[in-house]
Amino acid sequence: MATILITGASRGIGLELTRQYAAAGERVIATCRSPSGAVDLQALAAAHPGLLQVEALDVTDFAAIDALAARLAGTTIDILINNAGDIGPRDPDRTRLIEQRFGTLNYAEWRRVLDVNMLAPIKVAEAFASHVAAAKRPRLVFVSSTTGSNVEGRYPLFVYCSSKAGLNKCVTMLAMALKDRGVTCLAVCPGHVKTELGGDGAVLEVGESVRGLRAVIDGAGLAQSGQFIRYNGETIAW
Ligand SMILES: NC(=O)c1ccc[n+]([C@@H]2O[C@H](COP(=O)([O-])OP(=O)(O)OC[C@H]3O[C@@H](n4cnc5c(N)ncnc54)[C@H](OP(=O)(O)O)[C@@H]3O)[C@@H](O)[C@H]2O)c1
Repeated sequence: MATILITGASRGIGLELTRQYAAAGERVIATCRSPSGAVDLQALAAAHPGLLQVEALDVTDFAAIDALAARLAGTTIDILINNAGDIGPRDPDRTRLIEQRFGTLNYAEWRRVLDVNMLAPIKVAEAFASHVAAAKRPRLVFVSSTTGSNVEGRYPLFVYCSSKAGLNKCVTMLAMALKDRGVTCLAVCPGHVKTELGGDGAVLEVGESVRGLRAVIDGAGLAQSGQFIRYNGETIAW
């Protein structure tokens, strides 16, 4: 049985990753900002007693990340999935999208999104590096987005896209930093998924995306470290 830690497990892709890994009999440490409000996650935990542990974690609270890492000292984490993410300013009728466009940028929001999408996953990786490195086949996974690719990304939103582009660069550096400790570092794109973040135009069911992501993660080893891989196994150019 593998132990898998997932951030942002209250809904969307994080919740589905938790559901599928728990159903497969893996031990999951599912973290979310507000466990009491995460009704679906709590129902899953009740259905998998002893297998699914829910922990409170706002990934922008670095002291809380350190405290959780200290509490889990001695726990080997085979797979750590940095999934929590934020699309940035965008309301249902899309009027706030201009805050992500040149000329009308909202810099306070940009800083906030960089914290969630870029700095926090690296802080989580730093805090849990020794828990992961202790595994036989350690993997650190970062849920990124094709929108952060300089080659494929065509979405002109400075806030979200720059946060994922920055995350991608960090993953390539992290792969080098952790190579000697045998840790595989992988950026993955889930596709355009029907979640709150995915929005109206999304095409993929969350179950299909997550089945693909699990296959990608399952097949990843040091030869793939530092790569950016889509849920269907395609390599994405940075
Ligand atoms: N859906 C897509 O089409 C798509 C495409 C490419 C990449 N992605 C990436 O996939 C990941 C998951 O997205 P999703 O589609 O599942 O979105 P989602 O349904 O909106 O879920 C986002 C998750 O991130 C959590 N989160 C946000 N800020 C957080 C913070 N500061 N601390 C802890 N958790 C936080 C949310 O928790 P709360 O419930 O507390 O808000 C929620 O669980 C993200 O990294 C996203 O960028 C998604």
